[in-house]
Amino acid sequence: MEVVILPGPDEVARVAARRIAEAVRRRPDAVVGLATGSSPLGLYAELARQVAAGELDVSGIRGFGLDEYVGLPPGHPQSYASVLRRTVVQPLRLDPARVHVPDGGAAELVAAAAGFERRIEAAGGIDVQILGIGANGHIGFNEPTSSLSSRTRVKTLAPRTRADNARFFASPEEVPVHCLTQGLGTILEARELVLVALGRAKADAVAAAVEGPLSSMCPASVLQLHPRAGAYLDEAAAARLRLADYYRHTWAHRPGGS
Ligand code: F6R
Repeated sequence: MEVVILPGPDEVARVAARRIAEAVRRRPDAVVGLATGSSPLGLYAELARQVAAGELDVSGIRGFGLDEYVGLPPGHPQSYASVLRRTVVQPLRLDPARVHVPDGGAAELVAAAAGFERRIEAAGGIDVQILGIGANGHIGFNEPTSSLSSRTRVKTLAPRTRADNARFFASPEEVPVHCLTQGLGTILEARELVLVALGRAKADAVAAAVEGPLSSMCPASVLQLHPRAGAYLDEAAAARLRLADYYRHTWAHRPGGS
């Protein structure tokens, strides 16, 4: 895994956005996997800045959300479909019809999950997947003990995840209990993974994911299996890494220096 430690969230946003911009320049109709949550907001804002400045054209890309809550009323402002519309589709001026999110309101959730997988496959697979990490090590909503080869399916959110996400809702009880999430096997099929982690609350999960054993107890540790995975961290999120000096040295001496 490439581990990149940067001074703060702004630098993380800039460097991680560069990865996405490179993927889009290589392939203007790139398929981009989109995480919600606070971690990638700076990255999305940086891409939006580049689009507004005419430095980047993302009009040809297609997007797939990582996950969605089950059971929120249609149009709920905290549904991930709504969040992606506000934070990605509108600022990047994407055609909403090109961005797909698992249907957490479907009557048949198993069929909705299978349909979402088929849609990714029909698009040719995900070129670059943006990821955050939960304080419990989840990626997407693959909570600890998720199968390392899981596909898009219904999951029950861990109490820790519901507590962490309560900040987005009027009350903790409003946070849904279930979700649809891309599986760890689905995520591993993306051609490139870009994980963003910010803040001290993520430091233990980041250390377990990067330097711990490959284990379903830390679902993000599956990134160790991926040939092109990058973790973009601020100093606080990197605080528990034992080899931090090595990662800094590697980044400082990277070929090409960009
Ligand atoms: C969101 C997602 C989650 C978040 C994670 C971190 O689509 O899949 O895995 O990335 O919970 O959330 P933040 O970034 O809000 O700390």
